[in-house]
Amino acid sequence: MTKVAIIGTGPCGLSMLRSFEQAEKKGEKIPQIVCFEKQEDWGGLWNYNWRTGSDQYGDPVPNSMYRYLWSNGPKECLEFADYSFDEHFGKPIPSFPPREVLYDYIIGRVKKGNLKNKVRFNTTVMAVTYNGKNFEVTSHDKKNDKFSKDAFDYIVVSTGHFSVPFIPEYPGMKSFPGRILHSHDFRDAEEFRGKNVIVLGSSYSAEDVALQCNKYGAKSVTIGYRNNPMGFKWPNGMKEVHYLDRLEGNKAIFKDGHKQEADAIILCSGYLHHFPFLSEDLKLKTRNRLYPPKLYKGVVWENNHKLLYLGMQDQFHTFNMFDCQAWYARDVIMGKIKIPNNSEIKKRYK
Ligand SMILES: Cc1cc2nc3c(=O)[nH]c(=O)nc-3n(C[C@H](O)[C@H](O)[C@H](O)COP(=O)(O)OP(=O)(O)OC[C@H]3O[C@@H](n4cnc5c(N)ncnc54)[C@H](O)[C@@H]3O)c2cc1C
Ligand SMILES: NC(=O)c1ccc[n+]([C@@H]2O[C@H](COP(=O)([O-])OP(=O)(O)OC[C@H]3O[C@@H](n4cnc5c(N)ncnc54)[C@H](OP(=O)(O)O)[C@@H]3O)[C@@H](O)[C@H]2O)c1
Repeated sequence: MTKVAIIGTGPCGLSMLRSFEQAEKKGEKIPQIVCFEKQEDWGGLWNYNWRTGSDQYGDPVPNSMYRYLWSNGPKECLEFADYSFDEHFGKPIPSFPPREVLYDYIIGRVKKGNLKNKVRFNTTVMAVTYNGKNFEVTSHDKKNDKFSKDAFDYIVVSTGHFSVPFIPEYPGMKSFPGRILHSHDFRDAEEFRGKNVIVLGSSYSAEDVALQCNKYGAKSVTIGYRNNPMGFKWPNGMKEVHYLDRLEGNKAIFKDGHKQEADAIILCSGYLHHFPFLSEDLKLKTRNRLYPPKLYKGVVWENNHKLLYLGMQDQFHTFNMFDCQAWYARDVIMGKIKIPNNSEIKKRYK
Protein backbone atom coordinates (compact mmCIF):
# COMPACT_ATOMS: atom_id res chain seq x y z
CA MET A 1 0.00 0.00 0.00
CA THR A 2 1.23 3.52 -0.83
CA LYS A 3 2.43 5.35 2.30
CA VAL A 4 2.26 9.14 2.59
CA ALA A 5 3.89 11.36 5.23
CA ILE A 6 2.37 14.77 5.84
CA ILE A 7 4.72 17.03 7.79
CA GLY A 8 2.86 19.75 9.70
CA THR A 9 -0.84 20.08 10.51
CA GLY A 10 -1.36 23.79 10.03
CA PRO A 11 -4.03 24.86 7.52
CA CYS A 12 -2.05 23.24 4.66
CA GLY A 13 -1.62 19.88 6.37
CA LEU A 14 -5.30 19.97 7.36
CA SER A 15 -6.31 20.68 3.73
CA MET A 16 -4.28 17.63 2.73
CA LEU A 17 -6.04 15.46 5.31
CA ARG A 18 -9.43 16.80 4.26
CA SER A 19 -8.75 16.06 0.59
CA PHE A 20 -8.07 12.39 1.37
CA GLU A 21 -11.10 12.23 3.65
CA GLN A 22 -13.32 13.49 0.82
CA ALA A 23 -11.95 10.86 -1.58
CA GLU A 24 -12.54 8.13 0.99
CA LYS A 25 -16.12 9.30 1.51
CA LYS A 26 -16.68 8.82 -2.21
CA GLY A 27 -15.59 5.20 -1.85
CA GLU A 28 -12.06 5.62 -3.23
CA LYS A 29 -9.22 3.64 -1.72
CA ILE A 30 -6.83 6.13 -0.15
CA PRO A 31 -3.18 5.57 0.78
CA GLN A 32 -1.94 4.99 4.32
CA ILE A 33 -1.30 8.41 5.88
CA VAL A 34 0.90 9.44 8.78
CA CYS A 35 0.99 13.10 9.86
CA PHE A 36 3.77 14.53 11.98
CA GLU A 37 3.11 17.59 14.11
CA LYS A 38 5.68 19.10 16.44
CA GLN A 39 3.08 20.98 18.52
CA GLU A 40 0.70 19.27 20.90
CA ASP A 41 -2.33 20.16 18.78
CA TRP A 42 -3.16 20.96 15.17
CA GLY A 43 -3.94 24.35 13.58
CA GLY A 44 -0.37 25.56 12.86
CA LEU A 45 0.11 29.30 13.44
CA TRP A 46 -3.57 29.56 14.38
CA ASN A 47 -2.99 27.35 17.41
CA TYR A 48 -1.93 30.38 19.47
CA ASN A 49 0.94 29.93 21.88
CA TRP A 50 2.06 32.40 24.55
CA ARG A 51 5.53 30.89 24.39
CA THR A 52 8.45 32.40 22.49
CA GLY A 53 11.87 30.81 21.96
CA SER A 54 11.73 27.11 22.81
CA ASP A 55 8.98 24.79 23.98
CA GLN A 56 9.29 22.63 27.10
CA TYR A 57 11.37 20.12 25.11
CA GLY A 58 13.88 22.66 23.77
CA ASP A 59 12.36 22.66 20.27
CA PRO A 60 11.92 26.12 18.60
CA VAL A 61 8.36 27.47 18.93
CA PRO A 62 6.85 27.84 15.43
CA ASN A 63 4.16 30.33 16.47
CA SER A 64 4.27 33.89 15.12
CA MET A 65 0.76 35.05 15.94
CA TYR A 66 -0.13 37.54 18.63
CA ARG A 67 -3.01 37.58 21.02
CA TYR A 68 -5.11 40.35 19.48
CA LEU A 69 -4.56 39.54 15.82
CA TRP A 70 -7.45 40.16 13.44
CA SER A 71 -7.57 38.82 9.89
CA ASN A 72 -5.96 41.23 7.44
CA GLY A 73 -7.98 39.87 4.51
CA PRO A 74 -11.76 39.54 4.19
CA LYS A 75 -13.00 36.07 5.13
CA GLU A 76 -14.83 35.85 1.78
CA CYS A 77 -11.42 35.60 0.06
CA LEU A 78 -10.29 32.59 2.06
CA GLU A 79 -13.51 30.62 2.55
CA PHE A 80 -13.37 26.86 1.90
CA ALA A 81 -15.42 25.74 -1.11
CA ASP A 82 -16.76 22.69 0.78
CA TYR A 83 -17.40 24.31 4.19
CA SER A 84 -18.75 27.83 4.38
CA PHE A 85 -18.56 30.28 7.29
CA ASP A 86 -22.38 30.28 7.39
CA GLU A 87 -22.40 26.49 7.72
CA HIS A 88 -19.84 26.58 10.53
CA PHE A 89 -21.29 29.45 12.56
CA GLY A 90 -24.96 28.95 11.65
CA LYS A 91 -25.29 32.68 10.89
CA PRO A 92 -23.51 35.39 8.91
CA ILE A 93 -20.43 36.86 10.58
CA PRO A 94 -18.39 40.02 9.77
CA SER A 95 -15.79 40.01 6.99
CA PHE A 96 -12.72 40.58 9.18
CA PRO A 97 -12.82 38.11 12.09
CA PRO A 98 -10.34 37.90 14.97
CA ARG A 99 -7.80 35.07 15.25
CA GLU A 100 -9.89 32.77 17.50
CA VAL A 101 -12.84 32.88 15.09
CA LEU A 102 -10.72 31.81 12.12
CA TYR A 103 -9.08 29.11 14.23
CA ASP A 104 -12.50 27.76 15.19
CA TYR A 105 -13.53 27.70 11.53
CA ILE A 106 -10.40 25.88 10.30
CA ILE A 107 -10.61 23.27 13.05
CA GLY A 108 -14.39 22.91 12.69
CA ARG A 109 -14.00 21.40 9.23
CA VAL A 110 -11.66 18.62 10.30
CA LYS A 111 -12.68 17.76 13.83
CA LYS A 112 -15.88 15.91 12.94
CA GLY A 113 -14.06 12.96 11.34
CA ASN A 114 -11.40 10.60 12.67
CA LEU A 115 -8.53 12.56 11.23
CA LYS A 116 -6.76 13.16 14.54
CA ASN A 117 -5.96 9.43 14.65
CA LYS A 118 -3.61 9.96 11.75
CA VAL A 119 -1.49 12.57 13.55
CA ARG A 120 1.55 11.92 15.72
CA PHE A 121 1.50 15.02 17.94
CA ASN A 122 4.53 16.39 19.81
CA THR A 123 6.59 14.71 17.11
CA THR A 124 9.17 16.68 15.16
CA VAL A 125 10.48 15.46 11.83
CA MET A 126 14.25 15.61 12.18
CA ALA A 127 15.41 14.24 8.80
CA VAL A 128 14.06 13.22 5.40
CA THR A 129 16.26 11.49 2.81
CA TYR A 130 15.50 9.71 -0.47
CA ASN A 131 17.28 6.45 -1.31
CA GLY A 132 16.20 6.19 -4.95
CA LYS A 133 13.17 4.07 -4.06
CA ASN A 134 11.49 5.65 -1.07
CA PHE A 135 11.89 8.31 1.60
CA GLU A 136 13.27 7.67 5.05
CA VAL A 137 11.76 9.90 7.74
CA THR A 138 13.41 10.26 11.14
CA SER A 139 11.15 11.75 13.78
CA HIS A 140 11.43 12.62 17.45
CA ASP A 141 8.55 11.89 19.81
CA LYS A 142 9.38 14.70 22.24
CA LYS A 143 7.15 13.57 25.12
CA ASN A 144 8.71 10.12 25.31
CA ASP A 145 12.09 11.22 23.95
CA LYS A 146 11.94 8.45 21.32
CA PHE A 147 13.39 8.56 17.81
CA SER A 148 11.79 6.54 14.98
CA LYS A 149 12.59 5.82 11.36
CA ASP A 150 9.81 5.11 8.85
CA ALA A 151 9.73 4.60 5.07
CA PHE A 152 7.27 6.50 2.84
CA ASP A 153 6.46 6.64 -0.88
CA TYR A 154 5.38 10.29 -0.84
CA ILE A 155 6.21 13.27 1.34
CA VAL A 156 4.03 16.35 1.73
CA VAL A 157 5.91 19.28 3.27
CA SER A 158 3.37 21.56 4.95
CA THR A 159 5.56 23.12 7.61
CA GLY A 160 4.74 26.75 6.76
CA HIS A 161 7.24 29.52 6.06
CA PHE A 162 6.39 32.19 8.61
CA SER A 163 7.99 30.61 11.66
CA VAL A 164 11.73 31.20 11.35
CA PRO A 165 12.45 34.94 11.58
CA PHE A 166 14.91 36.78 9.36
CA ILE A 167 16.83 38.97 11.81
CA PRO A 168 19.07 41.69 10.34
CA GLU A 169 21.62 43.56 12.45
CA TYR A 170 22.15 47.31 12.55
CA PRO A 171 25.12 49.22 14.02
CA GLY A 172 24.55 50.08 17.66
CA MET A 173 22.24 47.15 18.45
CA LYS A 174 24.71 45.55 20.84
CA SER A 175 24.69 48.58 23.12
CA PHE A 176 21.02 49.58 22.72
CA PRO A 177 19.64 49.84 26.28
CA GLY A 178 16.04 48.89 25.35
CA ARG A 179 14.34 45.77 24.04
CA ILE A 180 14.93 44.38 20.53
CA LEU A 181 12.62 41.69 19.19
CA HIS A 182 11.36 40.24 15.92
CA SER A 183 7.62 40.26 15.12
CA HIS A 184 7.81 36.43 15.43
CA ASP A 185 8.16 36.98 19.21
CA PHE A 186 5.57 39.77 19.47
CA ARG A 187 2.57 38.55 21.49
CA ASP A 188 0.87 41.61 22.94
CA ALA A 189 1.24 45.39 22.44
CA GLU A 190 0.37 46.07 26.11
CA GLU A 191 4.05 45.88 27.06
CA PHE A 192 4.79 48.90 24.85
CA ARG A 193 2.26 51.21 26.52
CA GLY A 194 3.92 54.63 27.13
CA LYS A 195 7.04 53.59 25.17
CA ASN A 196 8.75 54.99 22.08
CA VAL A 197 8.66 52.13 19.60
CA ILE A 198 10.58 51.73 16.34
CA VAL A 199 9.11 49.27 13.82
CA LEU A 200 11.29 48.22 10.89
CA GLY A 201 9.76 46.92 7.65
CA SER A 202 6.93 47.93 5.34
CA SER A 203 4.83 44.83 4.87
CA TYR A 204 1.88 43.24 6.70
CA SER A 205 3.62 42.67 10.03
CA ALA A 206 5.07 46.19 10.12
CA GLU A 207 1.68 47.72 9.42
CA ASP A 208 -0.23 45.61 11.93
CA VAL A 209 2.32 45.58 14.76
CA ALA A 210 2.82 49.35 14.46
CA LEU A 211 -0.93 49.98 14.58
CA GLN A 212 -1.38 47.62 17.54
CA CYS A 213 1.34 49.49 19.47
CA ASN A 214 -0.38 52.79 18.72
CA LYS A 215 -3.80 51.41 19.66
CA TYR A 216 -2.54 50.01 22.98
CA GLY A 217 -0.99 53.30 24.07
CA ALA A 218 2.61 53.50 22.83
CA LYS A 219 3.95 57.04 23.29
CA SER A 220 5.22 57.14 19.69
CA VAL A 221 5.58 54.67 16.84
CA THR A 222 8.16 55.30 14.12
CA ILE A 223 8.17 52.96 11.13
CA GLY A 224 11.41 52.66 9.14
CA TYR A 225 10.79 51.37 5.61
CA ARG A 226 13.61 50.03 3.45
CA ASN A 227 12.42 50.20 -0.18
CA ASN A 228 8.83 51.40 -0.45
CA PRO A 229 6.89 53.24 2.23
CA MET A 230 3.39 51.97 3.02
CA GLY A 231 2.33 55.60 2.70
CA PHE A 232 -0.91 55.42 4.72
CA LYS A 233 -2.49 58.31 6.54
CA TRP A 234 -1.19 57.25 9.96
CA PRO A 235 -3.05 58.16 13.16
CA ASN A 236 -1.59 60.68 15.62
CA GLY A 237 1.55 59.40 17.29
CA MET A 238 2.73 57.47 14.23
CA LYS A 239 5.07 58.34 11.37
CA GLU A 240 6.91 56.55 8.58
CA VAL A 241 10.53 57.46 7.78
CA HIS A 242 13.28 56.03 5.61
CA TYR A 243 15.23 53.02 6.91
CA LEU A 244 17.30 52.76 10.06
CA ASP A 245 20.94 53.75 9.64
CA ARG A 246 22.21 53.09 13.19
CA LEU A 247 21.47 53.26 16.89
CA GLU A 248 23.44 55.56 19.17
CA GLY A 249 22.58 54.76 22.76
CA ASN A 250 18.79 54.94 22.87
CA LYS A 251 18.60 57.14 19.72
CA ALA A 252 17.52 55.67 16.40
CA ILE A 253 19.07 57.54 13.47
CA PHE A 254 17.43 57.03 10.10
CA LYS A 255 18.81 57.34 6.54
CA ASP A 256 16.82 60.52 5.98
CA GLY A 257 18.48 62.14 9.01
CA HIS A 258 15.44 61.68 11.21
CA LYS A 259 16.29 61.03 14.91
CA GLN A 260 14.00 59.36 17.43
CA GLU A 261 14.41 58.29 21.05
CA ALA A 262 13.60 54.61 21.35
CA ASP A 263 12.65 52.19 24.13
CA ALA A 264 12.03 49.21 21.84
CA ILE A 265 12.84 48.07 18.31
CA ILE A 266 10.49 45.59 16.63
CA LEU A 267 11.97 43.97 13.53
CA CYS A 268 9.21 43.19 11.06
CA SER A 269 11.76 41.97 8.56
CA GLY A 270 10.05 38.81 7.38
CA TYR A 271 10.78 35.10 7.58
CA LEU A 272 13.03 32.41 6.12
CA HIS A 273 11.93 29.31 4.22
CA HIS A 274 13.72 26.91 6.51
CA PHE A 275 13.70 23.13 6.16
CA PRO A 276 16.54 21.83 8.35
CA PHE A 277 15.05 18.31 8.18
CA LEU A 278 15.29 17.94 4.38
CA SER A 279 18.43 16.67 2.64
CA GLU A 280 19.98 19.17 0.22
CA ASP A 281 18.56 17.52 -2.94
CA LEU A 282 15.01 17.87 -1.57
CA LYS A 283 15.24 21.37 -0.14
CA LEU A 284 13.28 24.29 -1.57
CA LYS A 285 15.42 27.43 -1.52
CA THR A 286 13.51 30.63 -1.99
CA ARG A 287 12.61 33.98 -0.56
CA ASN A 288 8.98 34.94 0.08
CA ARG A 289 7.57 35.26 -3.45
CA LEU A 290 4.54 34.28 -5.49
CA TYR A 291 6.40 31.78 -7.70
CA PRO A 292 9.03 29.84 -5.73
CA PRO A 293 11.46 28.10 -8.10
CA LYS A 294 11.44 24.37 -9.02
CA LEU A 295 7.84 23.76 -7.98
CA TYR A 296 5.69 22.49 -10.83
CA LYS A 297 2.22 24.04 -10.48
CA GLY A 298 3.59 25.57 -7.27
CA VAL A 299 3.40 22.14 -5.61
CA VAL A 300 5.51 19.33 -7.15
CA TRP A 301 9.27 19.34 -6.50
CA GLU A 302 10.75 19.15 -9.98
CA ASN A 303 13.79 17.13 -8.86
CA ASN A 304 11.61 14.42 -7.29
CA HIS A 305 7.94 14.24 -8.20
CA LYS A 306 7.09 12.28 -5.05
CA LEU A 307 7.87 15.28 -2.90
CA LEU A 308 5.08 17.85 -2.67
CA TYR A 309 5.17 21.25 -1.02
CA LEU A 310 2.04 23.10 0.10
CA GLY A 311 1.62 26.80 0.86
CA MET A 312 5.15 27.92 0.01
CA GLN A 313 4.03 31.01 -1.93
CA ASP A 314 3.71 34.53 -0.62
CA GLN A 315 0.13 34.53 0.58
CA PHE A 316 -2.80 36.60 -0.60
CA HIS A 317 -5.39 33.87 -0.86
CA THR A 318 -4.71 31.37 1.89
CA PHE A 319 -7.05 28.58 3.01
CA ASN A 320 -8.79 28.11 -0.35
CA MET A 321 -5.45 28.22 -2.20
CA PHE A 322 -4.14 25.56 0.20
CA ASP A 323 -7.19 23.44 -0.65
CA CYS A 324 -6.53 23.74 -4.40
CA GLN A 325 -2.95 22.65 -3.81
CA ALA A 326 -3.93 19.80 -1.51
CA TRP A 327 -6.58 18.43 -3.89
CA TYR A 328 -4.01 18.61 -6.70
CA ALA A 329 -1.33 16.87 -4.57
CA ARG A 330 -3.85 14.18 -3.59
CA ASP A 331 -4.64 13.44 -7.22
CA VAL A 332 -0.93 13.27 -8.06
CA ILE A 333 -0.41 10.79 -5.20
CA MET A 334 -3.48 8.74 -6.21
CA GLY A 335 -2.22 8.58 -9.80
CA LYS A 336 -5.08 10.62 -11.28
CA ILE A 337 -2.76 13.38 -12.47
CA LYS A 338 0.40 12.51 -14.35
CA ILE A 339 3.31 14.91 -13.96
CA PRO A 340 5.18 15.52 -17.23
CA ASN A 341 8.91 14.87 -17.31
CA ASN A 342 11.24 17.76 -16.56
CA SER A 343 12.09 18.65 -20.18
CA GLU A 344 8.35 18.84 -20.91
CA ILE A 345 7.90 21.02 -17.80
CA LYS A 346 10.65 23.38 -19.02
CA LYS A 347 9.00 23.61 -22.46
CA ARG A 348 5.66 24.48 -20.85
CA TYR A 349 7.21 27.26 -18.82
CA LYS A 350 8.80 28.90 -21.87
C1 LIG B 1 1.60 37.01 12.08
C2 LIG B 1 0.85 36.29 11.00
C3 LIG B 1 -0.47 36.58 10.78
C4 LIG B 1 -1.18 35.94 9.77
N1 LIG B 1 -2.49 36.30 9.57
C5 LIG B 1 -3.20 35.73 8.58
C6 LIG B 1 -4.56 36.11 8.35
O1 LIG B 1 -5.11 36.97 9.01
N2 LIG B 1 -5.25 35.46 7.39
C7 LIG B 1 -4.68 34.47 6.64
O2 LIG B 1 -5.36 33.88 5.80
N3 LIG B 1 -3.38 34.12 6.82
C8 LIG B 1 -2.63 34.73 7.76
N4 LIG B 1 -1.31 34.38 7.95
C9 LIG B 1 -0.68 33.45 7.00
C10 LIG B 1 -0.50 32.01 7.53
O3 LIG B 1 0.76 31.66 7.05
C11 LIG B 1 -1.55 31.05 7.00
O4 LIG B 1 -2.85 31.45 7.40
C12 LIG B 1 -1.39 29.60 7.46
O5 LIG B 1 -1.19 29.49 8.85
C13 LIG B 1 -0.30 28.84 6.73
O6 LIG B 1 -0.52 27.48 6.96
P1 LIG B 1 0.63 26.38 6.85
O7 LIG B 1 -0.03 25.10 7.16
O8 LIG B 1 1.34 26.54 5.56
O9 LIG B 1 1.71 26.78 7.95
P2 LIG B 1 1.63 26.92 9.53
O10 LIG B 1 0.34 27.49 9.96
O11 LIG B 1 2.89 27.60 9.91
O12 LIG B 1 1.69 25.38 10.05
C14 LIG B 1 2.85 24.60 9.91
C15 LIG B 1 2.81 23.46 10.91
O13 LIG B 1 3.95 22.63 10.70
C16 LIG B 1 4.46 22.23 11.96
N5 LIG B 1 5.88 21.89 11.78
C17 LIG B 1 6.88 22.71 11.38
N6 LIG B 1 8.05 22.03 11.30
C18 LIG B 1 7.78 20.75 11.65
C19 LIG B 1 8.57 19.57 11.78
N7 LIG B 1 9.89 19.57 11.47
N8 LIG B 1 7.99 18.43 12.20
C20 LIG B 1 6.64 18.41 12.50
N9 LIG B 1 5.84 19.49 12.39
C21 LIG B 1 6.40 20.65 11.97
C22 LIG B 1 4.25 23.44 12.86
O14 LIG B 1 4.23 23.07 14.21
C23 LIG B 1 2.88 23.93 12.36
O15 LIG B 1 1.83 23.34 13.09
C24 LIG B 1 -0.55 34.98 8.95
C25 LIG B 1 0.79 34.67 9.18
C26 LIG B 1 1.49 35.32 10.20
C27 LIG B 1 2.94 35.00 10.41
N1 LIG C 1 -3.24 40.73 10.91
C1 LIG C 1 -2.79 39.87 10.04
O1 LIG C 1 -3.54 39.16 9.43
C2 LIG C 1 -1.31 39.75 9.77
C3 LIG C 1 -0.40 40.48 10.51
C4 LIG C 1 0.96 40.31 10.29
C5 LIG C 1 1.39 39.41 9.32
N2 LIG C 1 0.48 38.72 8.59
C6 LIG C 1 0.92 37.74 7.56
O2 LIG C 1 2.21 37.31 7.85
C7 LIG C 1 2.91 37.01 6.67
C8 LIG C 1 4.31 37.61 6.73
O3 LIG C 1 4.29 39.03 6.67
P1 LIG C 1 5.59 39.88 7.09
O4 LIG C 1 5.23 41.31 6.97
O5 LIG C 1 6.10 39.37 8.39
O6 LIG C 1 6.70 39.44 6.04
P2 LIG C 1 6.87 39.86 4.49
O7 LIG C 1 5.56 40.17 3.89
O8 LIG C 1 7.71 38.82 3.86
O9 LIG C 1 7.67 41.24 4.54
C9 LIG C 1 8.99 41.32 4.96
C10 LIG C 1 9.36 42.77 5.23
O10 LIG C 1 10.68 42.80 5.78
C11 LIG C 1 11.41 43.86 5.19
N3 LIG C 1 12.84 43.59 5.31
C12 LIG C 1 13.51 42.50 4.85
N4 LIG C 1 14.82 42.61 5.16
C13 LIG C 1 14.96 43.78 5.82
C14 LIG C 1 16.06 44.45 6.39
N5 LIG C 1 17.30 43.95 6.31
N6 LIG C 1 15.83 45.62 7.03
C15 LIG C 1 14.57 46.14 7.09
N7 LIG C 1 13.50 45.55 6.56
C16 LIG C 1 13.69 44.40 5.93
C17 LIG C 1 10.90 43.87 3.76
O11 LIG C 1 11.22 45.12 3.22
P3 LIG C 1 11.43 45.37 1.64
O12 LIG C 1 10.04 45.34 1.07
O13 LIG C 1 12.04 46.71 1.60
O14 LIG C 1 12.28 44.26 1.14
C18 LIG C 1 9.40 43.67 4.00
O15 LIG C 1 8.77 44.90 4.29
C19 LIG C 1 2.02 37.53 5.52
O16 LIG C 1 1.39 36.45 4.91
C20 LIG C 1 0.98 38.38 6.20
O17 LIG C 1 -0.29 38.36 5.57
C21 LIG C 1 -0.86 38.89 8.79
